[in-house]
Amino acid sequence: MSYNNSMNKLKIGVCYYPEHWDEFLWVKDLDMMQELGISQIRLAEFAWSKMQPGPDQYDFDWLDEVIRLAGERNIGVTLCTPTATPPNWLIRQHPEILPVAEDGRVREFGSRRHYSFNSQIYLEYSCQITEKMAQRYGKNPTVNSWQTDNELGCHDTTRSYGKLDEEAFQVFLENKYREIAKLNEDWGNIFWDQNYDGFKDIPLPNHQVCEFNPAHRLDYFRFASESLVAYNKAQVDILHKHCDNQPVTHNMMAFINDFDHYAMADDLDFACWDNYPLGFLEHMHKNDADKSEYYDIGHPDISAFYHDLYRTIGKGKLWIMEQQPGPVNWANYNPVPTLGAIKFWAWQAFAHGAELVCYFRWRQAPYAQEQMHAGLLTPDSQPAQAYLEVKELIKEMEAIPQLEIKPAAAALIYDYESIWFWEALPQNASFSFNEWAFAWYESLRSCGINLDIISPTADFSKYKLVIIPSMVNPNAAMLDRVKQASMTKFVWGPRSGSKTANFAFPEEMPPGKLQELVPVKVKQISSLRPSIKISGTGDFGDWSGELWLEYIASDLKPRAVVSTGEQGGIFYNHNNQYYLGVCLDKDSLKSLVQLLLQEAGIDYEILPQGQRICATEQGDFVFDFAKRSYKLPQTSNS
Ligand code: GAL
Repeated sequence: MSYNNSMNKLKIGVCYYPEHWDEFLWVKDLDMMQELGISQIRLAEFAWSKMQPGPDQYDFDWLDEVIRLAGERNIGVTLCTPTATPPNWLIRQHPEILPVAEDGRVREFGSRRHYSFNSQIYLEYSCQITEKMAQRYGKNPTVNSWQTDNELGCHDTTRSYGKLDEEAFQVFLENKYREIAKLNEDWGNIFWDQNYDGFKDIPLPNHQVCEFNPAHRLDYFRFASESLVAYNKAQVDILHKHCDNQPVTHNMMAFINDFDHYAMADDLDFACWDNYPLGFLEHMHKNDADKSEYYDIGHPDISAFYHDLYRTIGKGKLWIMEQQPGPVNWANYNPVPTLGAIKFWAWQAFAHGAELVCYFRWRQAPYAQEQMHAGLLTPDSQPAQAYLEVKELIKEMEAIPQLEIKPAAAALIYDYESIWFWEALPQNASFSFNEWAFAWYESLRSCGINLDIISPTADFSKYKLVIIPSMVNPNAAMLDRVKQASMTKFVWGPRSGSKTANFAFPEEMPPGKLQELVPVKVKQISSLRPSIKISGTGDFGDWSGELWLEYIASDLKPRAVVSTGEQGGIFYNHNNQYYLGVCLDKDSLKSLVQLLLQEAGIDYEILPQGQRICATEQGDFVFDFAKRSYKLPQTSNS
């Protein structure tokens, strides 16, 4: 069966930079895009000085023309506010906008993201250009969506350490604590005689002599996240005020945890993110064996993890605003994707719920920072490998116009504030919350199940099993919702409930109020270097663990114990609650996951290495990152 393209829910787009090319190429480019079947382009996220060459000068003619040409060809436009690149004239006039690195160095003009979220002057200029654009294009029928800025927080830019950041932080603290005595008490400032006399005396947590007060750091991290969210909201509000039927999104990134994405997404209409499977594997992932194994196809779970996370963040509506089309320029090594990978990644995104896959970028730039980054066209305008694969992909998409994911029976809680707790006082140099959450995801997905990644404020009752890799400070409201989800099984990982909101020990000792749900008390905690392995036995077989070992006292009978030493049980279960006091290695975690799935009554099947399944109402998608070949069943119309 073939479908009219306009009925298709799945779409292909491309990021286009008309400002990089001579005008005569625009028509040619858009004709080529139309012929290929591209139905969406993204424009203008780095084009501020083209639209506003000086403080009181505006020039939108070029953008009017590109949007007109796109409209004529039935190509929709996502228009971006250009605030990721404050122009040179603005920085010359107001150098105080520039962000300051943790070491006190000013981060200069000459690349991008050179501004602090706490600069009121920058906020004014950002709102001004946003308003100008919204007034001009807010009712334009070709513009069907907006993107604010570009990859907020990327390149370590959520946190800035300048004078104006310090002043804004002091205001944040005063609003939060009201009385300096309260702040002193909550931060434990009697320790080392750190008491402050007033809010204006509180510095940023970057230049102290030795260890930082973790409560000071944690509040600074919370403040930095709130500043970013407020900055984004200011733009979203302006767009909502002026634009008709043009939903607003922001392109989020993988591995950026310095701001609360759930809070930011409360202001957005849907979510999108930027997917670079090979770049992420090479640049961010810790496991060297995986880097070699999957070097030209990507890791089976990294992109999938973020598809699942951002699908939740977008309240079910997800776009991939940038997708890798070939080698990137920004990892240590940048291989050419294996043949077929471009199509494969698009289907993976669709099977995880994405409606649009938009490639970055149309034509490879022959100059500047990203000249080694592929596009759909080579710098001399010839079709690159990605172009050819996109052509095939669009044909394949005609047969599958839309997908609905089957509801997941299991979920994993991803909590940004826990990440900041870990960062504020690590206590183990090798533990990463992100990697630990990812290890759980990998184990669950290798059992062939669909999985949701959810926030601590989600409705838990629709799941049979909820995994909480670690939640340092589950608040009372969350614990209440856990109690209410009486048919759901919950698994709490090490260090859960180990701190109060002010970064102190809970009165009842870790895991704090969680003890009401599962009666275990953590008496001591051993932080282990990665070469130390602990082992034991339990209901999920012999196990091996690392990094954290909790010494737990409980009247419950442990379901797994340590074989050596006197510390005893590390895995307990009471009613629907499970508590795990160690980080299990990959194989042991897989065994535990199987036990949990069985006890939660969730059907599963152990998949061969590298294989993953996405169950949709339209059928199961099997993705094989081990590159095995398959014989497809013959059907009468295939
Ligand atoms: C993204 C960014 C794009 C481009 C791309 C290169 O993170 O948003 O502007 O730099 O990376 O892979």
